[in-house]
Amino acid sequence: MTDLKEIIQNAALSHNLENSQITAILKDDSINDFLFACADKVREKYVGNEIHLRGLIEFSNICKCSCKYCGIRKENTSVERYRLSENEIILLAQKAKQYGYKTIVLQSGEDSFYSTEKMISIIKKIKSMDFAITLSIGEKTYDEYKAYKDAGADRYLLRIETTDENLYKNMHPNMSFENRINCLKNLKKLGFETGTGCLVGLPGQSIESLANDILFFKELNADMIGLGPFIPAPDTPLKNETGGTLTLALKVMALTRLLLPDINIPATTAMETLAPDGRIIALKSGANVVMPNVTDENCKQKYTIYPGKAGLNNTPEEYKSCITSKIESIGRKISNGYGFRNKF
Ligand code: 5AD
Repeated sequence: MTDLKEIIQNAALSHNLENSQITAILKDDSINDFLFACADKVREKYVGNEIHLRGLIEFSNICKCSCKYCGIRKENTSVERYRLSENEIILLAQKAKQYGYKTIVLQSGEDSFYSTEKMISIIKKIKSMDFAITLSIGEKTYDEYKAYKDAGADRYLLRIETTDENLYKNMHPNMSFENRINCLKNLKKLGFETGTGCLVGLPGQSIESLANDILFFKELNADMIGLGPFIPAPDTPLKNETGGTLTLALKVMALTRLLLPDINIPATTAMETLAPDGRIIALKSGANVVMPNVTDENCKQKYTIYPGKAGLNNTPEEYKSCITSKIESIGRKISNGYGFRNKF
């Protein structure tokens, strides 16, 4: 057995790696299948064969941020903007109920139209429908996060995007790395199941910094990690850059599973966008969550974070039956539970 394989095998038991080891694994593609198989075993041992489906509602594509990679950044005038009303959001949640989803993920751009008061009202209504609630609505104050938590929100997704501070500054004009870290700490402190993650393959992103990203997830003891390849979006400053690869994103994900064996890791839409079976490959390489989009056709088409987003041509009904049979075809089953992290 090669040294790297031995390191991977040990990490599958110790759940620890150093930056230099992660970097070496990320740089060597001869051990990929071994890495994916080990991550798959760790996934099975710690979180089992059930897959949690989370119904995703993209309720507004209006954003005050200027993230250079993002297709819905505020400078992008070619995007047709939309905002859903509370009633429209509740109707989508009712649909998600019919599909049997136990979690609603409310995601939007950073849109200040949704005041704390409005969010509290939406959260309480969805909570009364017996859902677990995940929010993914960006950087807010401690008090705002607390208000969401008190209203019944259970989880919060806020990707760090990159832990390389210089790259972070370059990618996120007028934003502060320190504040993003603070937000994550506040979410943890408030008792949210906290999700973070990074983009893989950003221009100027080093392999060493990706290794640091993985170690950051471990240090934060994140409850959920979402990872995806960077996909160049039209009408953004990065439109002509080279995107990230599915393979590297899968490797970062598999290593994250080795280090955080009991967390929830979605097979992300960005992965599916780069390969027709990207999600299934991810589910066989460490992932245990899928987030089907329940946003209606018209809005879904406008939530253009990046181009070619997978699932745009399927109705939520079609998607549910398609993902169910795919999941069953790889010997896994859909969970009936809420899918909280079961800390080991
Ligand atoms: N390619 C891939 N992922 C992207 N995101 C934003 N823009 C892109 C892109 N061009 C991701 C960010 C964000 C999440 C909601 O979508 O990581 O946190």
